[in-house]
Amino acid sequence: MKELTLKRLERKIHLSKHSMEIYIVLSEDVTSLSCLFQINTTKCRILTYRKGLNFISQSYLYLPLDLTSMQKCTTADGSETFLNEEIQETYHSHTGAVEEALKKYAIPCKIKELAQTGKVTILDACAGMGYNAAMGIQVALEENPDCKVEVVGLEIDPEIIKKIQEVNPAIPAFKYFKKITPTNLEVKEGNVHIKYILGDAHETSKLLPEEYFDAIFFDPFSPKSAPDMWNKEFFDQMYRVIKRNGILATFSCARMARDNMAAAGFMYDDGPILGRRGPGTIATKWVFP
Ligand SMILES: C[S@@+](CC[C@H](N)C(=O)[O-])C[C@H]1O[C@@H](n2cnc3c(N)ncnc32)[C@H](O)[C@@H]1O
Repeated sequence: MKELTLKRLERKIHLSKHSMEIYIVLSEDVTSLSCLFQINTTKCRILTYRKGLNFISQSYLYLPLDLTSMQKCTTADGSETFLNEEIQETYHSHTGAVEEALKKYAIPCKIKELAQTGKVTILDACAGMGYNAAMGIQVALEENPDCKVEVVGLEIDPEIIKKIQEVNPAIPAFKYFKKITPTNLEVKEGNVHIKYILGDAHETSKLLPEEYFDAIFFDPFSPKSAPDMWNKEFFDQMYRVIKRNGILATFSCARMARDNMAAAGFMYDDGPILGRRGPGTIATKWVFP
């Protein structure tokens, strides 16, 4: 069998992460592609061409995971993040992942003030590697070392959970997240309790108790890339699980997102401007006294 040339490897932007196309150019006398790849977890569409780029066939194969690896990037405050090539968005702001966790989530959600009450419950909606929640824990424990902090993280992708082992943001409380893996989704240590729920947050959020969370760190991909994460149905769930007068903070100020928050019952205002053109949004489940 002649050697194959991997001409071009390209991730296509699809709804599912587990979909990509790979273009293979065969030497003139190669007729079969069988047994070239080992079975693994990522389904790919293989488009086969002869030299001269005449299309021959299309088939599906499972490719080794290293072909799906995410590119690591360093943000302006020195903290690392990854590029999701399928969505073409990074998991954190280029201007600083750690700064974003503090200024867009922990401060607007008043974690320091909540810590003075002795207990803080945080929902990290689209938790990824947990930077925002780690910052929430850090701020709470700095304010009150006896504070109990409970975090529930909703995340769909086990691959990003694995990436926790490859980053070291300057947040001391990130040490708790180092113990989270796709097969160990819960950590209880001292006053800190972190639980990841793996799955589609549209579904997993329905399992959460009513009026339970003091704060929601709402950090999906952007409304443009992931509009379903910003729809009214999902905000209905966020409204259901947040406590009265609880605060939801997010990086986006998109009209559609704000309209859906309002339709779900939230009152909103501008959040901090940080690294993007517009402000974030701070939404409150405001209840008359
Ligand atoms: C902008 S990143 C969040 C980064 C995160 N805050 C961190 O510190 O790493 C968006 C996250 O939403 C997750 N996600 C996308 N769709 C989801 C869904 N339907 N349910 C739960 N999580 C989802 C992605 O896998 C990704 O980790």
